[in-house]
Amino acid sequence: MSAVMPYGVGDMLSSANAPDLAWVPWTAEGTYFKLLNADPETGFYSLVLKVEPGTHLSVQRHIDPAEAFVLSGSFYYVDEPDRVYGRGAYVREKAGAVHEPVSDEGAVMFAVFHGPIERFGRDGRLLGAFDWRWHVHAWNAAGGHYPI
Ligand SMILES: [Fe+2]
Repeated sequence: MSAVMPYGVGDMLSSANAPDLAWVPWTAEGTYFKLLNADPETGFYSLVLKVEPGTHLSVQRHIDPAEAFVLSGSFYYVDEPDRVYGRGAYVREKAGAVHEPVSDEGAVMFAVFHGPIERFGRDGRLLGAFDWRWHVHAWNAAGGHYPI
């Protein structure tokens, strides 16, 4: 296995060297992801998420919980602008959570999704439900080589 190979997979271990992976557009304008893990059995998927400065995401709803750990930058929810989650903050969003994240300075975070996330347009129309399968397809369509 080469040291520059973005993924290493063994019988008991899967790993990714995240800095070697490219950013791929995520579910909203101004957002990008790197796919670290997608598990067809559990529906879990793990990402590095990047939000560009000045991004106000449209409404998202979590079918299942999601967890995020902020690596750099910060974000907040539009309904709670005084509670800012910066570097080192951990957030667990419960199943059914509906919100609009905002990042003034941009943010990079590690996130684990326990199931699909729904994205709504500014007009309230459901744009789609994005599950582990969508992430693998988007990743590989962008030139990634997620083994599945
Ligand atoms: Fe969320």
